[in-house]
Amino acid sequence: MRNLRIGVLVSGGGSNLQAIIDAIEVKKLKSQIVCVISNKKDAYALERAKIHGIEGIHINPKEEAYDDRLLAILKDKKVDLVVLAGYLRIIPIAMIEAFPDRIINIHPSLLPKYGGQGYYGIHVHRAVIQAGDKESGATVHYVDGGIDTGEIILQKSIPVYQEDTPETLQQRVLNEVEHNILVEAIQVMESKVTNC
Ligand code: GRF
Repeated sequence: MRNLRIGVLVSGGGSNLQAIIDAIEVKKLKSQIVCVISNKKDAYALERAKIHGIEGIHINPKEEAYDDRLLAILKDKKVDLVVLAGYLRIIPIAMIEAFPDRIINIHPSLLPKYGGQGYYGIHVHRAVIQAGDKESGATVHYVDGGIDTGEIILQKSIPVYQEDTPETLQQRVLNEVEHNILVEAIQVMESKVTNC
Protein backbone atom coordinates (compact mmCIF):
# COMPACT_ATOMS: atom_id res chain seq x y z
CA MET A 1 0.00 0.00 0.00
CA ARG A 2 1.33 3.39 -0.85
CA ASN A 3 0.16 6.98 -0.70
CA LEU A 4 0.31 8.11 -4.28
CA ARG A 5 0.85 11.63 -5.48
CA ILE A 6 -1.86 12.01 -8.09
CA GLY A 7 -2.00 14.49 -10.96
CA VAL A 8 -5.50 14.76 -12.42
CA LEU A 9 -5.94 15.98 -16.00
CA VAL A 10 -9.32 17.46 -16.90
CA SER A 11 -11.15 19.37 -19.61
CA GLY A 12 -14.65 19.81 -18.22
CA GLY A 13 -17.00 19.70 -15.29
CA GLY A 14 -14.85 17.49 -13.11
CA SER A 15 -17.46 15.29 -11.43
CA ASN A 16 -14.96 12.42 -11.59
CA LEU A 17 -12.34 14.68 -10.01
CA GLN A 18 -14.88 15.43 -7.29
CA ALA A 19 -15.39 11.70 -6.69
CA ILE A 20 -11.63 11.34 -6.07
CA ILE A 21 -11.54 14.38 -3.78
CA ASP A 22 -14.50 13.02 -1.79
CA ALA A 23 -12.94 9.56 -1.49
CA ILE A 24 -9.71 11.09 -0.16
CA GLU A 25 -11.66 13.20 2.34
CA VAL A 26 -13.47 10.16 3.76
CA LYS A 27 -10.19 8.21 3.70
CA LYS A 28 -11.37 5.66 1.15
CA LEU A 29 -8.17 6.60 -0.67
CA LYS A 30 -4.81 7.13 0.96
CA SER A 31 -3.46 9.14 -1.94
CA GLN A 32 -3.35 12.89 -2.39
CA ILE A 33 -4.03 15.05 -5.40
CA VAL A 34 -1.02 17.29 -5.94
CA CYS A 35 -2.31 19.14 -9.00
CA VAL A 36 -5.22 19.43 -11.37
CA ILE A 37 -4.27 20.43 -14.89
CA SER A 38 -6.71 21.60 -17.54
CA ASN A 39 -6.39 22.46 -21.21
CA LYS A 40 -9.58 24.54 -20.86
CA LYS A 41 -9.43 27.76 -18.90
CA ASP A 42 -13.11 27.73 -17.92
CA ALA A 43 -13.28 24.06 -16.90
CA TYR A 44 -15.38 23.86 -13.74
CA ALA A 45 -12.97 21.17 -12.57
CA LEU A 46 -10.46 23.96 -11.85
CA GLU A 47 -13.01 25.64 -9.60
CA ARG A 48 -13.54 22.35 -7.74
CA ALA A 49 -9.79 22.11 -7.20
CA LYS A 50 -9.67 25.66 -5.84
CA ILE A 51 -12.56 25.02 -3.44
CA HIS A 52 -10.62 22.11 -1.98
CA GLY A 53 -7.29 23.89 -1.76
CA ILE A 54 -5.72 21.90 -4.59
CA GLU A 55 -3.46 23.63 -7.07
CA GLY A 56 -5.22 24.05 -10.40
CA ILE A 57 -3.20 24.87 -13.50
CA HIS A 58 -4.43 25.87 -16.93
CA ILE A 59 -2.14 25.28 -19.88
CA ASN A 60 -3.25 26.97 -23.08
CA PRO A 61 -2.53 24.61 -25.99
CA LYS A 62 -2.49 27.56 -28.39
CA GLU A 63 0.07 29.61 -26.54
CA GLU A 64 2.48 27.17 -25.01
CA ALA A 65 4.53 24.10 -25.85
CA TYR A 66 1.68 22.24 -24.23
CA ASP A 67 3.03 18.72 -23.91
CA ASP A 68 6.46 19.83 -22.69
CA ARG A 69 4.93 22.07 -20.04
CA LEU A 70 2.51 19.35 -18.95
CA LEU A 71 5.28 16.80 -18.52
CA ALA A 72 7.50 19.32 -16.72
CA ILE A 73 4.74 20.11 -14.20
CA LEU A 74 3.98 16.44 -13.52
CA LYS A 75 7.66 15.75 -12.93
CA ASP A 76 8.13 18.88 -10.83
CA LYS A 77 5.19 17.84 -8.61
CA LYS A 78 6.68 14.35 -8.32
CA VAL A 79 3.47 12.77 -9.56
CA ASP A 80 3.27 8.96 -9.21
CA LEU A 81 -0.06 8.44 -10.93
CA VAL A 82 -1.72 10.45 -13.69
CA VAL A 83 -5.51 10.20 -13.80
CA LEU A 84 -7.33 11.34 -16.93
CA ALA A 85 -10.76 12.39 -15.69
CA GLY A 86 -12.67 13.75 -18.64
CA TYR A 87 -9.51 14.91 -20.38
CA LEU A 88 -10.05 15.50 -24.07
CA ARG A 89 -6.53 15.45 -25.47
CA ILE A 90 -4.29 12.71 -26.80
CA ILE A 91 -1.46 11.73 -24.47
CA PRO A 92 1.90 11.98 -26.28
CA ILE A 93 4.27 9.01 -26.34
CA ALA A 94 6.89 10.92 -24.31
CA MET A 95 4.46 11.10 -21.43
CA ILE A 96 3.52 7.43 -21.66
CA GLU A 97 7.22 6.59 -21.55
CA ALA A 98 7.75 8.89 -18.58
CA PHE A 99 4.88 7.25 -16.65
CA PRO A 100 4.82 3.58 -17.68
CA ASP A 101 1.60 1.94 -16.41
CA ARG A 102 1.02 5.04 -14.31
CA ILE A 103 -1.54 6.79 -16.50
CA ILE A 104 -5.17 5.70 -16.24
CA ASN A 105 -8.27 6.92 -18.04
CA ILE A 106 -11.99 6.67 -17.40
CA HIS A 107 -14.16 6.09 -20.45
CA PRO A 108 -17.98 6.04 -20.41
CA SER A 109 -18.57 2.80 -22.31
CA LEU A 110 -17.95 -0.91 -22.05
CA LEU A 111 -14.68 -0.90 -23.97
CA PRO A 112 -13.77 -2.08 -26.54
CA LYS A 113 -17.24 -0.97 -27.60
CA TYR A 114 -17.60 2.72 -28.41
CA GLY A 115 -13.97 3.64 -27.92
CA GLY A 116 -11.56 5.53 -30.16
CA GLN A 117 -11.74 8.64 -32.32
CA GLY A 118 -15.02 10.52 -32.01
CA TYR A 119 -16.34 8.50 -29.07
CA TYR A 120 -16.35 10.96 -26.22
CA GLY A 121 -18.98 12.60 -24.02
CA ILE A 122 -22.56 12.43 -25.23
CA HIS A 123 -21.50 10.84 -28.57
CA VAL A 124 -20.80 7.59 -26.75
CA HIS A 125 -24.22 7.43 -25.16
CA ARG A 126 -25.97 8.43 -28.39
CA ALA A 127 -24.26 5.52 -30.16
CA VAL A 128 -25.30 3.09 -27.42
CA ILE A 129 -28.97 4.17 -27.66
CA GLN A 130 -28.92 4.14 -31.46
CA ALA A 131 -27.52 0.62 -31.49
CA GLY A 132 -30.30 -0.51 -29.12
CA ASP A 133 -27.82 -1.96 -26.62
CA LYS A 134 -29.37 -3.42 -23.51
CA GLU A 135 -26.47 -2.47 -21.28
CA SER A 136 -23.80 0.16 -21.05
CA GLY A 137 -21.29 1.23 -18.42
CA ALA A 138 -17.80 2.54 -18.01
CA THR A 139 -14.22 1.35 -18.08
CA VAL A 140 -11.01 2.40 -16.37
CA HIS A 141 -7.95 1.42 -18.36
CA TYR A 142 -4.24 2.06 -18.63
CA VAL A 143 -3.29 4.57 -21.27
CA ASP A 144 -1.12 3.28 -24.10
CA GLY A 145 -0.28 4.79 -27.48
CA GLY A 146 -3.82 4.36 -28.86
CA ILE A 147 -7.16 5.95 -28.07
CA ASP A 148 -9.07 3.99 -25.40
CA THR A 149 -7.05 0.87 -26.20
CA GLY A 150 -4.98 0.21 -23.08
CA GLU A 151 -5.34 -2.75 -20.76
CA ILE A 152 -8.58 -2.69 -18.78
CA ILE A 153 -8.32 -2.26 -15.01
CA LEU A 154 -12.02 -2.22 -14.11
CA GLN A 155 -15.32 -2.23 -15.92
CA LYS A 156 -18.90 -2.17 -14.69
CA SER A 157 -22.20 -2.31 -16.52
CA ILE A 158 -25.71 -1.03 -15.90
CA PRO A 159 -28.91 -1.70 -17.85
CA VAL A 160 -30.05 0.68 -20.57
CA TYR A 161 -33.76 1.40 -20.11
CA GLN A 162 -36.16 1.78 -23.00
CA GLU A 163 -36.96 5.32 -21.88
CA ASP A 164 -33.29 6.35 -21.64
CA THR A 165 -32.09 9.29 -23.72
CA PRO A 166 -28.37 9.89 -24.34
CA GLU A 167 -28.53 12.50 -21.57
CA THR A 168 -30.20 10.29 -18.94
CA LEU A 169 -27.86 7.44 -19.78
CA GLN A 170 -24.86 9.76 -19.50
CA GLN A 171 -25.95 10.87 -16.04
CA ARG A 172 -26.60 7.33 -14.81
CA VAL A 173 -23.29 6.06 -16.15
CA LEU A 174 -21.52 8.95 -14.42
CA ASN A 175 -23.31 8.64 -11.08
CA GLU A 176 -23.78 4.89 -10.84
CA VAL A 177 -20.59 3.67 -12.49
CA GLU A 178 -17.83 6.17 -13.27
CA HIS A 179 -17.54 7.82 -9.89
CA ASN A 180 -17.30 4.42 -8.19
CA ILE A 181 -14.98 2.54 -10.51
CA LEU A 182 -12.56 5.44 -10.83
CA VAL A 183 -12.06 5.44 -7.07
CA GLU A 184 -11.82 1.62 -7.03
CA ALA A 185 -9.23 1.70 -9.81
CA ILE A 186 -7.12 4.17 -7.83
CA GLN A 187 -7.36 1.77 -4.87
CA VAL A 188 -6.02 -0.92 -7.20
CA MET A 189 -3.16 1.39 -8.17
CA GLU A 190 -2.45 2.18 -4.53
CA SER A 191 -1.90 -1.50 -3.89
CA LYS A 192 0.09 -2.04 -7.09
CA VAL A 193 2.46 0.86 -7.35
CA THR A 194 5.34 0.18 -5.02
CA ASN A 195 8.54 1.50 -6.46
CA CYS A 196 8.02 5.13 -7.35
C1 GRF B 1 -16.92 11.39 -18.27
O1 GRF B 1 -18.01 10.75 -18.85
C2 GRF B 1 -15.65 10.66 -18.61
O2 GRF B 1 -15.79 9.28 -18.69
C3 GRF B 1 -15.36 11.20 -19.95
O3 GRF B 1 -15.70 12.57 -19.87
C4 GRF B 1 -16.70 12.75 -18.88
C5 GRF B 1 -16.17 13.75 -17.90
O4 GRF B 1 -17.03 14.04 -16.87
N1 GRF B 1 -14.03 10.86 -20.37
P1 GRF B 1 -16.54 14.93 -15.64
O5 GRF B 1 -15.80 16.14 -16.20
O6 GRF B 1 -15.66 14.10 -14.77
O7 GRF B 1 -17.81 15.35 -14.95
